[in-house]
Amino acid sequence: MNETALEHTRHDTAVVAPALPTPGSVRVSRRAAIVATFWGGITALVAGGIGTALNAVYPRNVTGFGGPITVPVGRIPKPGEAPRLVVEGRFLLVNLAPGEGGMPGEGGAPAGGLVALYKKCPHLGCSVPWRSDASYKDLRGVFLCPCHGSTYTRAGVRVFGPAPRSMDTMAIELRDTGDIVVQTGDITQGGVDNPSRALPYDGSPQT
Ligand code: FES
Repeated sequence: MNETALEHTRHDTAVVAPALPTPGSVRVSRRAAIVATFWGGITALVAGGIGTALNAVYPRNVTGFGGPITVPVGRIPKPGEAPRLVVEGRFLLVNLAPGEGGMPGEGGAPAGGLVALYKKCPHLGCSVPWRSDASYKDLRGVFLCPCHGSTYTRAGVRVFGPAPRSMDTMAIELRDTGDIVVQTGDITQGGVDNPSRALPYDGSPQT
């Protein structure tokens, strides 16, 4: 190659200078970006899981079943009337007349009052309705499970069938207005003492 040709080659070849970082710019490698994204996702998942667990352990502002349900005085049955199903709370509200609701022939609640029965059958969990047209021995009207026939008095005391115990009860609080609040998250296993758990109630505002 003569001197002229060499001169042409020198001028025809583009020379690209390496880019220099501008002042203040930060260069992040692809690998570092992937690692950061990964750990960011893991952190979000863990935080979400902890939040869900805390909500389950310490429920806040629970409404409906699991929380308090107010039953206004106008919805509370009179003593001896048919039980009232409170759908949103999954309970049956019973107003026992004095001496009512125990095992037949074994006496009953000495004072009567309100009992909130969890409608879930203690046998296999079917919903138990009140049946005013059914009877057991001298009981007229019983709670009768449609699944396997477990039968309960008006206080939810088991008198017949495969259920291992009486219907469960929920805690009841009385308000000054005569309304009641049923704590549907505060459930006690049913027993023959269900009638004695009744909350005395005369239906008038407290003074
Ligand atoms: S579920 Fe009620 S008797 Fe079986």
